[in-house]
Amino acid sequence: MKKIVISTGGGDAPGLNAVIYSVVRASYARGWEVYGSRSGYLGLLDLDELVRLTPEMVADITSTGGTIIGSTNKGNPFAMPIENLAGKIEIHDVSDRVMKNFKRMGFICHIAVGGDGSLEIAHRFAEEKGMPVIGVPKTIDNDLEATQLTFGFDTAVSTATEALDKLHSTAKSHDRVMVVEVMGRDSGWIAINSGISGGADIILIPEIPFDMDEVCKKLDDNELHDKDYAIVVVAEGARAKDQEIIHKGEGEIGRSEKLLGGIGEWVANEISRRTGKDTRSLVLGHLQRGGSPTTFDRLLALRFGAMAVRLAEEKKFDHMVALTGDTMTSVPLAEAIKGRKKVPVSGNRVKTAREIGICLGESGEMEAQELEMRNCAC
Ligand code: F6P
Repeated sequence: MKKIVISTGGGDAPGLNAVIYSVVRASYARGWEVYGSRSGYLGLLDLDELVRLTPEMVADITSTGGTIIGSTNKGNPFAMPIENLAGKIEIHDVSDRVMKNFKRMGFICHIAVGGDGSLEIAHRFAEEKGMPVIGVPKTIDNDLEATQLTFGFDTAVSTATEALDKLHSTAKSHDRVMVVEVMGRDSGWIAINSGISGGADIILIPEIPFDMDEVCKKLDDNELHDKDYAIVVVAEGARAKDQEIIHKGEGEIGRSEKLLGGIGEWVANEISRRTGKDTRSLVLGHLQRGGSPTTFDRLLALRFGAMAVRLAEEKKFDHMVALTGDTMTSVPLAEAIKGRKKVPVSGNRVKTAREIGICLGESGEMEAQELEMRNCAC
């Protein structure tokens, strides 16, 4: 019987369990067995952490959040933090052990479900160690260039939009400015989509370094039009002109990216200092990653999972499944990890935001330049 292994790495995203369900069902339909590697590559490092996944075990998981096999964003086998006898953390390359166990188990393919970091590791295994790998893109940030959408994003946007809807009434009751920080790392997709849908007055995204004068001008303008409250959405990776991105810290040992966060509070303090308005800030944080996937995300995840098994059957390794239009396609992993997808500043979302009176914190000069570039439909 042919055997494949699936792992989920990086930050979790609603829809991971739907991918697992789909991979298990589509594999068993072909007479193959599926194993889940717990916490990213842990199951391939320590075979006790491998779990055989049967159709019965995944029967009810499609609608659930999280991942039944766990995830981690500090488990890169090429640079694994390991505690030595003296209690000190040392970084070791344990990729050969992973490969040895992969072969020992007789796996014909590894389906790696992850964001850019996990897919980069998967590609390295394919390129340097000859592991037959297929990538499935996952991230609430929607920042993978090679696929139109990733599952988890729609759920995160829905959660953020619902939060904004709720904030309107309390902001209005108190004549307050509510500043909401949302996730998305260096891309403003969650911020711009939820901000437009949730009736924000101001949306600040990483792609457009903002000018606090413009932000305050918008609040004054609101007041002139008898609107004494405002909703401000700030992407965690946004930054003011002439300022650095704000980080919360390095994060845990072994993770490759710094932790973002703090810009919402900074913006709220600036608004309060400059305008004297009653201002509060909140961070939506991991609420955006939790809960049941929306129908859209579920369907996308199920389609990705089935496509990944199809690619395994075709032996189209070192590729990632992707969504192009409404079609399931595949792209070489090397291509898929090349760049991060940003909100196009001359695209349709930005244009829509401007046209319906949402301030993006840009100075007049910046806006004039961008308005000249009208062709992108993103
Ligand atoms: O990449 C997904 C994401 O949720 C980002 O939006 C966020 O910056 C990061 O992960 C948070 O990571 P962690 O779960 O380690 O706090």
